[in-house]
Amino acid sequence: MRLRPYAPGDEVAMAALYQRSVRVLGPADYTPAQVEAWAVAGPTAARFAERMADGRRAFMAEADGGTLVGFVDLEPDGHIDFLYAAPEAKGTGVADRLLDVVEVGAQADGIERLYSEASEAARRFFQRRGLDVLYRRDFEVGGVAIHNNAVEKRL
Ligand SMILES: CC(C)(COP(=O)(O)OP(=O)(O)OC[C@H]1O[C@@H](n2cnc3c(N)ncnc32)[C@H](O)[C@@H]1OP(=O)(O)O)[C@@H](O)C(=O)NCCC(=O)NCCS
Repeated sequence: MRLRPYAPGDEVAMAALYQRSVRVLGPADYTPAQVEAWAVAGPTAARFAERMADGRRAFMAEADGGTLVGFVDLEPDGHIDFLYAAPEAKGTGVADRLLDVVEVGAQADGIERLYSEASEAARRFFQRRGLDVLYRRDFEVGGVAIHNNAVEKRL
């Protein structure tokens, strides 16, 4: 596996990975209706392109051969908007490698706090990595009640 910065043209693979990750990994923690709402609300390739052009950093994890197996972003204020791993890459260290590069980049930029709104899988991962859970966030997506968790780490 190797990491590299986002490059224009990655968006189609990012949108596809997002859908696969949510639909395959999401059901461990969320109902079918919640998974469907989460997936449907996911960015299209065009929307990913817009987000990636707004000044944030993003990093791609590729398997040997170049297949995208994960990605993460880091907004200038320390917000992580996206952390997604391919289902077949779960538990292989992809998320660790992606968070490592985000932490190094954040520290280099003088960012004092990393924070995110974490799904249950992401909450477990982030807690292993020293982020604290601040509170549970209950909200609706497409009329479906769902929750995630506000997490943060002071750098
Ligand atoms: C959040 C996410 C990126 C974390 O990546 P990850 O690979 O699951 O995290 P880790 O590297 O710490 O792996 C730990 C998980 O792999 C499992 N695992 C450990 N070794 C494993 C192995 N050899 N084979 C398969 N799974 C393994 C662990 O049981 C643990 O699963 P759990 O969190 O369901 O209890 C990933 O779960 C994901 O993409 N989830 C779906 C999308 C999502 O929720 N994104 C965040 C939105 S806020």
